[in-house]
Amino acid sequence: MKTAIYPGSFDPVHNGHLEVIHRASRLCDRVIVAVAHNESKQELFTSGERVRLIQESTQEMSGVEVVSFEGLLVNFFRTVKADAVIRGLRAVSDFEYEFQMALMNRSLEENLETIFMVPNQENIYLSSRIVKEVAKLGGNIDGFVSPVVKEALVEKLGL
Ligand code: PNS
Repeated sequence: MKTAIYPGSFDPVHNGHLEVIHRASRLCDRVIVAVAHNESKQELFTSGERVRLIQESTQEMSGVEVVSFEGLLVNFFRTVKADAVIRGLRAVSDFEYEFQMALMNRSLEENLETIFMVPNQENIYLSSRIVKEVAKLGGNIDGFVSPVVKEALVEKLGL
């Protein structure tokens, strides 16, 4: 497969995301990690910060690019002439939302294929929301995020 987009909020990127990026990079020539920029969403990190954290966490992976995008994913998909969209699927609870998004995206762009990748057991319960909550409350997040993300969380949350 040639070019895949891995879109998401990544606020911030965690080890489950990094595992999906790594798996996708073994499958595709080019993986574009697409950080959604949404003015109306309350995010901890700016889109620029989220892009930088992913870039620094994926330095060792080949064929990975990180950019931010605004507006509809299908428009970005067309602009970069991608072949597929990658999403991680952790549990049954993800399924309904992911299924809805995949079908909506395909109805907007018939050439858009969504490929679901399943992370390892140890990353299955990770979410950016939960990582931020654990960090805020003083829990150890070493096993959940890369060192640069940990450092950024410590700084951002004033820990
Ligand atoms: O990490 P997330 O928050 O689950 O990612 C969701 C994301 C950013 C992939 C999704 O909200 C998205 O594609 N947003 C761009 C706007 C869009 O195309 N919306 C319609 C999706 S069906």
